[in-house]
Amino acid sequence: MASNEKLIGRRDVDDLEAILAVTNTDVDEAVHTVADNAEAIFTWDYEKGARPALNKLYEKAKHSQWNGETDLPWDTEVDVEKLASDMGGNPVIQRFREAARVPGSPFEHFSEREWTNLVIEGQNWRLSQFMHGEQGALLCTAKIVETVPWIDAKYYASTQVMDEARHVEVFAKYLDTKLTGHYPINAHLKMLLDDIINDSRWDMTYLGMQIMVEGLALAAFGFMHMLTQDPLLKQLLRYVMSDEARHVAFGVLSLKEYYGDLSDAELRERQEFAFEAAVRMRDRFLQQEVWERMGIDPRPVVTSMLAIPPKENMFQQLLFSKIVPNCKKLGLLDASGGWLRRRFEELGVIQFEDWVDTGEEYAELDEVAKDRLAAAAS
Ligand SMILES: [Fe+2]
Ligand SMILES: [Fe+2]
Repeated sequence: MASNEKLIGRRDVDDLEAILAVTNTDVDEAVHTVADNAEAIFTWDYEKGARPALNKLYEKAKHSQWNGETDLPWDTEVDVEKLASDMGGNPVIQRFREAARVPGSPFEHFSEREWTNLVIEGQNWRLSQFMHGEQGALLCTAKIVETVPWIDAKYYASTQVMDEARHVEVFAKYLDTKLTGHYPINAHLKMLLDDIINDSRWDMTYLGMQIMVEGLALAAFGFMHMLTQDPLLKQLLRYVMSDEARHVAFGVLSLKEYYGDLSDAELRERQEFAFEAAVRMRDRFLQQEVWERMGIDPRPVVTSMLAIPPKENMFQQLLFSKIVPNCKKLGLLDASGGWLRRRFEELGVIQFEDWVDTGEEYAELDEVAKDRLAAAAS
C-alpha cells in the first residue's frame, strides 16, 4: 500500500513549501520527450458494434465534427481590458478582494489597475493551461488507438484524436490572436501528463486522461463559459464542451466493463492513481505562476486558498463535480475498503458522489447538432 510520499511526493497533501517547490524548470524547451512504455495491439476481431455503447458514441462523433477555422466567429473583436473589468465581479476575484481587507494581505494596496491585470493574467494562464492539457489529450488518445484491444474503442478513439487536434488548434489561435500573453505548462499538470503517458497499462491512460483530466476540464470549461462575456470564447467553449462530454463518456463506458473484472488489489492501484491525479490538478489550480508574474509572494495567497472550507469553495466544487460521480460509477470510490472515498473526503469533494455521471449526458450536450438543426429549420 503506497504512502502519500510515494504517491504525491509529500506526506501532507497541503504542504505549501512542497507544492511551491514543484516548478517548471525549463520554460524555454521546445520539445519534451516522455517514454510511453506500451505495446501497440492489433486485433483481428473486426466485429463492429460488439460493444454497442461505444459504437453509438463513434457514430455520434462522426456526425458532430466541426471545423475550428470556419465554425467559429473569429472576426469578433475581443477587448481584453473591458472583458477583464466585466469579470472583476466574479466569485473567485471577489474572494481575493475580501482578502484584501485583511491587514498585511498581499492585495492590501492593490489598485483597480492591478485587479484588472490579475483577471487578464488569470485568463492568459487558464487558456494556456487548457491548450497544454488539450495537447496531452491529443497524445493520450493517439496512444489509446494503439493500446486498447477492442475495435469499437479504436474506432472511437480515432475520432477523439481529431477532436483534440481541433481543440489544441482553437485554444492556440485564441491565445495568439485575441489574448495578451502565453504561459508555459504548469509543472503539476506536466507531472500528471507525464505519469499518464508513462504508464504501460492501457486503462491508466483512460483513467488519467478521460476520467480525471477531461472530467475536470469539462467542469472548468463550463465555469469559464458561464463567466466570460466574450461571444467568441463562449461559442468556442460550447463546441469544445460538446466534444469533451463524449470523451468523458468514452472513459466511463470503457472502464466500466474493464474494472468489473479487476481484483481488489488492482482496483487499489487505480484508486491511488486517481488520488494522485486529483491532488496534481488541485495543486495546478493554485496558479502559482500568476502570482509570480504579478510580483506577489505566492505563500500567503496559496495558504489562504488552501484554507477555504470546501463548502465555500464553489470553484473547487465545480472542478470535481464530474470526477467524483464517474469514479463512483466505475466502482473506484468503495473498492479496497472505501480508500478513495476517504481521500476524496479529505480533499472536501465527496459531496458530488451522487451527481449525474457522464456516461450518458453527451447526447444532451451536443451543441453542434443543435446549431445544425436550428440552421436547417431557419
Ligand atoms: Fe479536448
Ligand atoms: Fe477531450
